[in-house]
Amino acid sequence: MAYQALYRQWRPMTFAEVVGQEAVVKTLKRQIETGRIAHAYLLCGCRGTGKTSIAKIMSRAINCQNPNHGDPCGVCEPCRAILAENTLDVLELDAASNNSVDNVRDLLEQVRYPAQVGRYKVYIIDEVHMLSSAAFNALLKTLEEPPQNVVFILATTEPQKIPATILSRVQRYDFGRIPAPLIEERMTLALQKLNIIAEPEALQMVARAAEGAMRDAFSILDMCVSSTADGALTAAIAREVLGASDRDFLFAFGEKLAVSDMAGIMHAIDTLMRAGREPQVFLKELTRHVRALLAVKALPENAAALLEITDEDEKRYRKQADSFTSERLLRMMDELMRAESEMRYASAPRVGLEVAVLRACAEQKGEDTAALLERIATLETKLSAFIGQVGSGQLQPVQPQQKADTKPQEKVNAQATVADKAKSTPLPPTDEQAIWEEMLKLIAKTEPPLLGLLKKERFVGSQDGVFRVQVAFERKDFTLLQLNKPARRDVIARALSEVAGKPLAFEAVLDGDGGAGKEDKLREENLRTLTSTVGRDLLHVDENDKL
Ligand SMILES: Nc1ncnc2c1ncn2[C@@H]1O[C@H](COP(=O)(O)OP(=O)(O)OP(=O)(O)O)[C@@H](O)[C@H]1O
Ligand SMILES: [Mg+2]
Ligand SMILES: [Zn+2]
Repeated sequence: MAYQALYRQWRPMTFAEVVGQEAVVKTLKRQIETGRIAHAYLLCGCRGTGKTSIAKIMSRAINCQNPNHGDPCGVCEPCRAILAENTLDVLELDAASNNSVDNVRDLLEQVRYPAQVGRYKVYIIDEVHMLSSAAFNALLKTLEEPPQNVVFILATTEPQKIPATILSRVQRYDFGRIPAPLIEERMTLALQKLNIIAEPEALQMVARAAEGAMRDAFSILDMCVSSTADGALTAAIAREVLGASDRDFLFAFGEKLAVSDMAGIMHAIDTLMRAGREPQVFLKELTRHVRALLAVKALPENAAALLEITDEDEKRYRKQADSFTSERLLRMMDELMRAESEMRYASAPRVGLEVAVLRACAEQKGEDTAALLERIATLETKLSAFIGQVGSGQLQPVQPQQKADTKPQEKVNAQATVADKAKSTPLPPTDEQAIWEEMLKLIAKTEPPLLGLLKKERFVGSQDGVFRVQVAFERKDFTLLQLNKPARRDVIARALSEVAGKPLAFEAVLDGDGGAGKEDKLREENLRTLTSTVGRDLLHVDENDKL
């Protein structure tokens, strides 16, 4: 089995497993026990303190058939369906990468379908402060007149960026940093499972370094664990992981940045990732390192006190700072900080880290880095591809089949001709189209919300038993992702198979580059296809007439 980072293994599944956040947990549990569920919640607080975890627990708890003191049971049908992401009753949107009004509209469109397996439809919008103002307005409209049995759970690290109009319509919960002793306890549990015994001092050091974020604690612990031998996590190991070795690494990294050693940088990042480091955590450390370099440049002497470092370290920073201009350091700082906020929720944070660091490098060299810029462009392309990643991993547009549907008005004339001819010599409906439509009818009965998603997209035919819809580019982050979830694909494939009486599969693919130009081209192509079809039919009819 692939190694799973500790923080993932230890995501709390019940309120009982949540550490700290007592006030939040107590109130939410009471609401569930008494059935007084609010329409909208806002979970605020530092990163890695349990917001997303609690949102997920809530989504199950309010739908659970046998809640245990407000905790989800984990075994009833709704609990299982939600855990397996098997239902459209609980929908998540990561506003960091899907912040447009279209993204929100697609999500809200699902509001009109009642919950299927549970009682409530739950919308989890993570990093909600990233929504565009148009998107906020769309959300506000729904919050103003909340539909029955719909619950919004919004999470953010930056509540000050949420419009007051939204704030006034949500129940707000503030998540505090998690006290070190609680972090230590939870780490101890994780270590027990791994049969590792830790020196108390080692745990204290890790907890302190995590600054109240449980996820960071687990990430650091992961590194410690990979350096332990004989099942013992000593203070020396923790010190090594946290301190000197990390600093050495950062100084070495700094040297590579100074000489814009791209290959070296990529290798170093690779080494880090192999060691199980979190791109975000490293980015934070790198930012701190660059800040220290800036500080020693700004302060001709005695920066040690300000930076809380030793005099010896100060010397080291000074030496490295000499290889940079202040302007360059400032630019790097800019890049790194921007990346920190951008990639927090990216689905491929490593690529985000690479792009940020290469950018930080590239800027200083100016125009003589054409090749480098090209590499960055490649990385950026990769990054956006990753972000729009679909389960199938297949993003190529599928060529429309002959009878692929186009916008009706574009083919009115051609259609009329086809229809006229069809009367005299009935064309058998293209099988796949008929199967597709029958399947939609079936889904309309069993899974109306799914129909809502499917209807908007273009059916582009089948190949080797795989039926495909082409999802418009602007819906790639929501609809495409939803339709390609294995469970969802299964439902559609089963319905198709039922209709056709043979096993069929389904997948959603992305509409090429999604630009308007592309759509025009497709339309043109469809028209041409239709014209040629009509042409052949005419020929056929002529022959009939002769007979
Ligand atoms: N209060 C907590 N109790 C137990 N574990 C926690 C807690 N908070 C965070 N964790 C650990 O950290 C991981 C990430 O937590 P979660 O995603 O809930 O944080 P978050 O507050 O949403 O962070 P972010 O703001 O970065 O999205 C969890 O999988 C879990 O391992
Ligand atoms: Mg979160
Ligand atoms: Zn349950």
